[in-house]
Amino acid sequence: RVRAGILGTGSALPKRVLTNADLEQMVETNNEWIVTRTGIEERRIAEPGEATSDYVAVACQRALEMSGVSPSDVDMLICATVTPDHAFPSTGNIVQERLGLTKASAFDLSAACSGFLYALSLGTSMIEAGRAKYVLVSAGDILSRIVDYTDRTTCVLFGDGAGAVLLGPAHGDSGVMSFNIHSDGSGKDTLYLKAGGSRYPATQETVASGDHYLKMAGRDTFKFAVQAMVSATEEVLEQAGLQPEDVALYVPHQANLRIIDAARRRFHIPDDRVALTLNKYGNTSGSSIPIALDEFYRAGRVKKGDVVLCVGFGAGLTWGAAAFRL
Ligand code: ACO
Repeated sequence: RVRAGILGTGSALPKRVLTNADLEQMVETNNEWIVTRTGIEERRIAEPGEATSDYVAVACQRALEMSGVSPSDVDMLICATVTPDHAFPSTGNIVQERLGLTKASAFDLSAACSGFLYALSLGTSMIEAGRAKYVLVSAGDILSRIVDYTDRTTCVLFGDGAGAVLLGPAHGDSGVMSFNIHSDGSGKDTLYLKAGGSRYPATQETVASGDHYLKMAGRDTFKFAVQAMVSATEEVLEQAGLQPEDVALYVPHQANLRIIDAARRRFHIPDDRVALTLNKYGNTSGSSIPIALDEFYRAGRVKKGDVVLCVGFGAGLTWGAAAFRL
């Protein structure tokens, strides 16, 4: 069986920084609350006029450049997003054209913060089945477009950005070892954006009532998140035949430092083996895992031959994990 390997990684973030001090001017909050409850110090915010594809395209371009694979050889582009440029065509199609991925099929995938793990699972399966050689797996969101900056319980958490990996035939003993993805639709009301779809199309009323902003039950999400991270990690370790100490880098979804710490402690993974970008970028949805992976890979904090374990959770509810050797 062909194994799928990570041949390149890339990420892209807006330049504009929104600090906790900035948020203190916008809502009734303070730096100390945000840092102690979440671990977030600042986040990046896209400029007006920019769209998700602008960041996804750059992240994909960087992953392609690292791999040395030509755009015209890519068979598939998967773009995980909950803030597509438009309802349709897909953001994937827009990126496909921009990068000249002439023979790639391209589409969007909706699994919120778990989107990258869903896309990675799908891309890996296509390669293992022999139906694709090179798959660009990307995730990107401009959450600042759907965040209510008068709601202090959500606006401090989120930021914008995109990340990508290029999957292709694995070299040597590298490659994806195991993955799992899960859903529980009974948790659909934990975290949602109500309007703009077919049930509540955009009208003056939905705009006036703020139904185009995301809403979240924070404590419920927190409880679900810890348990989901632990169970997905356990499952992926077992399937891959790995022990926690085999993991060189643990790359969790960057939602809350306390969630990450709770999960990490369960497996006795030391601090220095956890990829953290949360303090700088906040929660960038599905892109938080590939952004952290890319930053730590490029900084030499993880290298070829190392085992990486990614794990995440999000709206849906959705969750999952993947283990691979770089
Ligand atoms: N600044 C100051 N005070 C605040 C703020 C703020 N920004 N936000 C809430 N508070 C207040 C609350 O009003 C509450 O006050 P009260 O006790 O007088 O009612 C108090 O702080 C405590 O609020 P809690 O919600 O209990 O705080 P908690 O410790 O649970 O932290 C948080 C809230 C950070 C949202 C946490 O629950 C969390 O991280 N949950 C998970 C969120 C998450 O991971 N979301 C992403 C999902 S992935 C995706 O798909 C997008």
